[in-house]
Parts: sequence; C-alpha cells; structure tokens
Amino acid sequence: MDSIRIRGGKPLNGKIEISGAKNAALPLMVACLLTDETVTLSNLPHVADISTLINLLCQHGVQAHLNGQSNGNGNCNGRAISLTATSITSTEAPYDIVRKMRAGALVLGPLLAREGKAKVSLPGGCAIGTRPMNLHLDGLEAMGAKIDIDGGYMVAEAPNGLKGAEIRFETVSVGATEDLLMAACLAEGTTVLENAAKEPEITDLVRLLTAMGAKIEGEGTDRLVIEGQPTLQGADYKVMPDRIETGTYAIAAAIAGGRIELTNTDASLISSVLEILTAAGVSVEETEDGLIVSRDPASPIKGVDVMTQPYPGYPTDMQAQIMALMTVSKGASMITETIFENRFMHVPELTRLGANINVHGHSALVRGADQLVGAQVMATDLRASVSLVLAGLAASGETVINRVYHLDRGYERLEEKLAACGADILRIQGE
Ligand code: UD1
Repeated sequence: MDSIRIRGGKPLNGKIEISGAKNAALPLMVACLLTDETVTLSNLPHVADISTLINLLCQHGVQAHLNGQSNGNGNCNGRAISLTATSITSTEAPYDIVRKMRAGALVLGPLLAREGKAKVSLPGGCAIGTRPMNLHLDGLEAMGAKIDIDGGYMVAEAPNGLKGAEIRFETVSVGATEDLLMAACLAEGTTVLENAAKEPEITDLVRLLTAMGAKIEGEGTDRLVIEGQPTLQGADYKVMPDRIETGTYAIAAAIAGGRIELTNTDASLISSVLEILTAAGVSVEETEDGLIVSRDPASPIKGVDVMTQPYPGYPTDMQAQIMALMTVSKGASMITETIFENRFMHVPELTRLGANINVHGHSALVRGADQLVGAQVMATDLRASVSLVLAGLAASGETVINRVYHLDRGYERLEEKLAACGADILRIQGE
C-alpha cells in the first residue's frame, strides 16, 4: 500500500485548480440509470470512487465512455464520461463493489423505479459511524416498494411501479434525499420530500434531472416536490466544483502559511468554512473563478469553536481538516460533530504528531501546541487522511502517512497539487 512522506514547515505559494466534486459526480452518474438515452458529464474528477462506480454501473449493463481530455500535462483533469443505460441487464449491486463505497447503494431507488426490482448490498464506505439505510428504505416503502434484508442485501420489489408519496425525513440525509429524488422522477404521481438535504450536490442533481426532463420544484430548499414522468431523456451536464477539496486546500494555505489561489471553484460553496478561517486570522479574498487564501507564517492562528451541521452549516467532511488547523492555534477550540457519531478517528493520529486534543462525547477540545513534530501515522478514512497531510505540512521533520488508499478515493493528484505550491511531499509506492 502506498504511503505519503511530507517534510513540513514550508510555506505554500501558487495556484491549485479544483477538480469536479466527487460527491456530486457519483449521484449524477447514477442518474443515467433513469433513462435509455445518453447522459454525458464533464468536469469529472479522476478519483478511485468514480472508477468504482463505473464498474458498478457497467455490471448493471451501462455503456461507459471516458473521453480523456488532457489538460496539457498528461493528466486526466476535467475528463468527460458518457453513460448509456439502453437496457438494464442486472438489477443486482454486489457486495464486492458496494462495500468499497457507500454511494454505490444509491442505485437502489433508480433501479427499483425503472425495473420494478433491485437487490443491492448493504453499503460500506468510511467507517465513521453506523450509517444505516432506514431513511432510504422507509421512503421507498412509502412509495409502494416491498423490501426485505436478506444475506446482507436489500431486496426490493415494486411490480406495479413506484407511486408518489409524501415523505418527511426524521434526519437530514444527503444520500436518502438523492435516492428518493431519483426514484420519484419515474414514480407515478407526485412525491413530496420534506426536511430534504439542501447540500449543493443535491442542487446539482436536481439540475441534471431537470435537464433530463424531470419536473422538480423547490431547488435549494428542504422541500422538494417531484411530479413523476413516464420516461426521462439524455442530457449533457458539467459537474460542480468540489467544495470539500476547495476547503481542504484553503486550510493547507492557512496551516502552512503562504498564499494559494484556488481556481475553477466558487467561494460561496464554502462560506461556512471561510467564516471560520477568517475568524482564525486567515485572509480570504474571493476572485471571479475561486479565491485566494493567505497567511503570513509569522501571524498566529486563533482558536475558533466549530460545530458541524447540515448545509449551509459547517460541513462534517471539513471537520478533521479544521481540527488539524486548530492543533497549531494560539488558543483553544471546541470542535463538535453532530452528523456522525464516530468521526474522531483522526484524533489519536494527530496526537502522535504532538497535538493536544481531549474528546468528550461528540466534542473535542483542542489546545494549540507550539509545534507539531513529524511521525509515522495511519490514514483511517478519507477526510481523516487528509487532516494528517495538513498536519504534516505544519509539523517539523518528516511525517509518513501510511495506508493512503482512502485519500485516492476522494482527492485527485493531491501530492502533485501541493508539490506545485512548494510542499515537500512524495508518494512512496507500496508493494
Ligand atoms: C454524504 C456524503 C458524505 C458526507 C455526508 C454528510 C456522499 C457520497 N457522501 O454521505 O461525504 O459526510 O453526506 O454530509 O455524498 N442516516 C440515517 N439513516 C439513513 C441515512 C442516513 O440515520 O438511512 C444518518 C447517518 O447515519 C448520518 C446522517 O444521517 O448520521 C447523515 O448521513 P447522510 O447525509 O445520509 O450521509 P451520506 O449520504 O452517506
């Protein structure tokens, strides 16, 4: 397994082009199951989760074509993919693929809506909590499906098709909102989703579905009204910029000091993160196609309290990164996680670098350390892994992050992007 070696303490200066959003691209790709025409997506990120989903879709009978658009230096940034599900040859999503990535379970609603049946493995993904599927299942049952759990699979049937229903989510769930939104587009009648997630990735999905002929009201709100259609058509769509990648590199500039311009993105997608960075003493300037984040390495980072919330609140996917920043603040910070129950797995690893963190239930009290010191650490999940990279940029000496395959699930050419700004970072190929 590959590892990443960082020699920290160097300020970062330069430009980073932000990739398309993984968490938007995944449901957009799944939406191809709703039509027999071609859905073409551009600005596709080149990360492992996308390849995993291509494999899954292909084994359902989807024809996938990747049009490698070189960005001039041989990399695959900005690739486009065409997906055509002329017919669905299998309605089963096997354990071997879905266990690698929770988003694989999103095929449940679309397969059921189009084919009247689906057998989908219970999902895997990052081990950050129990991550149940009850909201997906309850919603599809309210739409007339009959679902059993058998041998680790969700086995669903709706022989007479799905019917529109009024569904109120007890918890805000990105995945359940996406799953039911897609299913409702082909259901008979009107579906109302109340307390729906409002994440920008949902808005991206609403826009693609609308381009495919779906009738959806309430874009960007927590109440979506979907009038089901007998069929949908193909469409061309550009994946939105990755707001989590944007925020992660903004924190890289903050923790290492220096000045990084982030392009091909939109500062308004991460307003909640930028508010915290500004309060911490980091300078943020919006530009036409992104933002510039800078900090004089001599000026201190202030401790700021952070609580994760559904959008537009502070994203849980940026919690580990802000914790890394707070470990080197001049002060203290209380970081509270409200979305997942087990999302502090980076804490013991950050502690190995000299961080001072005490966890009490859902909150972590971080007292700024004078200096982090490089060590060997282990990547545990996607965002935890990147928090260790960020801490390594600030630590003195050498930090080696082992088991970085989680990083490759969600960050495109991370070490190249950071090295281009002056970081001393190197991937060491594993056996
Ligand atoms: C998505 C993102 C993930 C992000 C998360 C929250 C993708 C591919 N992943 O994950 O990066 O961290 O949103 O912003 O887009 N829940 C239930 N029952 C369900 C479904 C969810 O109780 O049926 C709970 C979860 O355990 C969690 C909360 O709802 O506590 C939010 O989870 P959810 O928004 O569904 O996360 P994902 O869609 O899996």
